Amino acid sequence: MAILKIARMGHPVLSRRAEEVAEPTAAEIKALVATMIETMREEDGLGLAAPQVHVPKRVVVFFAPRAGAEEPEAELNALVNPVVEPVGDEKVEDWEGCLSVPGLRGLVPRYRRVRYRGVTPEGAPVDRVVEGLHARVVQHECDHLDGILYPMRMTDLSKLYFESELRHLKLGEREEVTVL
Ligand code: NI
Repeated sequence: MAILKIARMGHPVLSRRAEEVAEPTAAEIKALVATMIETMREEDGLGLAAPQVHVPKRVVVFFAPRAGAEEPEAELNALVNPVVEPVGDEKVEDWEGCLSVPGLRGLVPRYRRVRYRGVTPEGAPVDRVVEGLHARVVQHECDHLDGILYPMRMTDLSKLYFESELRHLKLGEREEVTVL
């Protein structure tokens, strides 16, 4: 396995719609997912979408907090051909970062609750309703598959900061900003 190079904002692969995967359980998809996970860990990301490693396919990997768990233990997910839809119309704002937009952090409104569906590289169907950070991560990663980066979801660009200047802000209870 290898660490893959991350495409950065401005690269065309990040602004086009990624293609559906015809065979989610194909060996090449399992290999892609394995290298994406390795790359995500190496870069300290919470999530990674295939276009971010120059592969225009609908594949995402992400860590998500385990629902109902008292410990903030993160569950590793890999999804092929994911589909996300809001549950309710409530939105919440929180800070996000992105490995394809290095050095910046922005305040991004997202749906509080979403339903997402897809299939794992092992062929298991996934159909979940989640909220909070888990819902945020899924929305951010699936946006990558449609050529959308988080600054495009921002409604107040005065809340786009260099990471090094975030110390001027009160971030609330969370000390670290997630990088997706
Ligand atoms: Ni991202």
